[in-house]
Amino acid sequence: MAVPHSDAFVFFGATGDLAYKKIFPALQAMIRHGHFDMPIVGVAKRQWNSDQLRARARESIEKHGGVDPDAFTKLSARLQYVSGDYRSEETYNRLREALGDATRPLYYLAIPPSEFETVAQALVKSTCAKDARVIIEKPFGRDLASAQQLNWVLQQCFPESAIFRIDHYLGKEPVQNLLYFRFANSFLERIWNRNYVERVEITMGESFGVEGRGRFYEEAGAIRDVVQNHMLQVMVLLTMDPPVGIDPETMRDEKIRVFRAMRPLTPEDVVRGQYRGYRAEDGVSPDSEVETFAAVRLHVDSWRWAGVPFCIRAGKRLPVTATEVLVVMKRPPQTVFDEIKPGRSNYFHFRLGPNVFIALGARAKVPGEAMVGEEVKLLACQHSGEEMSPYERLLSDAVRGDTTLFAREDAVESSWRIVDPVLGNVTPLYEYEPGTWGPSEADQIIGGEGGWHNPSPGEGLNDVTQQGCPSATWTSGDLVK
Ligand code: BG6
Repeated sequence: MAVPHSDAFVFFGATGDLAYKKIFPALQAMIRHGHFDMPIVGVAKRQWNSDQLRARARESIEKHGGVDPDAFTKLSARLQYVSGDYRSEETYNRLREALGDATRPLYYLAIPPSEFETVAQALVKSTCAKDARVIIEKPFGRDLASAQQLNWVLQQCFPESAIFRIDHYLGKEPVQNLLYFRFANSFLERIWNRNYVERVEITMGESFGVEGRGRFYEEAGAIRDVVQNHMLQVMVLLTMDPPVGIDPETMRDEKIRVFRAMRPLTPEDVVRGQYRGYRAEDGVSPDSEVETFAAVRLHVDSWRWAGVPFCIRAGKRLPVTATEVLVVMKRPPQTVFDEIKPGRSNYFHFRLGPNVFIALGARAKVPGEAMVGEEVKLLACQHSGEEMSPYERLLSDAVRGDTTLFAREDAVESSWRIVDPVLGNVTPLYEYEPGTWGPSEADQIIGGEGGWHNPSPGEGLNDVTQQGCPSATWTSGDLVK
């Protein structure tokens, strides 16, 4: 059934960091691509006027992608500012006035989680919530109990179909491609299971630290910040069964089945680290026990995945910024030629960013008399980056009322259920040197065979053709899109 489009866009937290870095550039892009023609209202506490918000929008877009004169003129013309306290009735009266004839607004709460409840309830009280949709930024709760409470409050204010819990990872092109690649290629079907897959590794490395977000990070830590949401969402796309349809609820039903099969983490499956120097960052307590690195081992108790470890590692101040998935296949049952090192061939390699590629790690014979081989990489495809920013994609979806790429209540609660037992200081915290792959204790998570695959920044086509052995590598013009 067709759902009506929203007819106004209102973002709370208009003077904040998220609006500056992501929302303004996404709005300009949506206007440029013709997806967006409606009043835009920024709401925040600062005593600004609409011109000041327009100046902020220009500065934001100049810094993040550049101004498109036509699209920016339209954005400026539609942009209004409402200043006021989120608890004051007066703020919502002004908001209603700014909305004019709009009857189905989309509200984006790009504000601290402690204010979600206040704003949601005030929207209802002021009747601004009627026929509206609401986008909620992460973090959605800080544990299972608070996520349940927040779900309860939101559902008092909006029907579930109008609640859009955003996880920008789900809007990323290469993350979507995980699902596409899996279900558009029948050769994967027979091998994508416990019989052929040895283990799955997911690494999210960031070479930078908390970058002025110390206060926020102190409340979060790596597990809450990226494992509970981004990393588990990637894992779901790798493990879910094919949906029987692509409508939002069918997709989300299939995802929840695999979430439910994930075993909650135990302390033995978690190693936490903190980079040396974190405690001296702005906003960070000098005796902070918050992790800036986490390595976890997950299990999916399903027919397809029983016994396959899923090892996830995420951290700040690691050697490179790169997010990737390695699906390592079982070794051949016997050694016919030379010894094959575990985990160093026979794998699918999905680089999700910043450079994006899909590759197959294999072995091929080295030319010469001996039957010895070397590791080679078949590059299936490579892209330089995102065509459409995740925020542009997700905001456009929300305007159309498409919930497919947003987390449903049960998925959010399931993901908290998985990490809940290891939140806080349940496990020891190990220090690591900035620029390393976290504490050495993280090697226990992957087990004895082969160790973690550490991404290198230039990996991809250029890397292979420049440094590889052209006669033995499988990369060729025909194979590369
Ligand atoms: C955010 C986290 O959700 O995702 C940040 O709060 C992290 O700590 C960021 O750096 C990573 O996202 P991206 O898209 O920049 O890889």
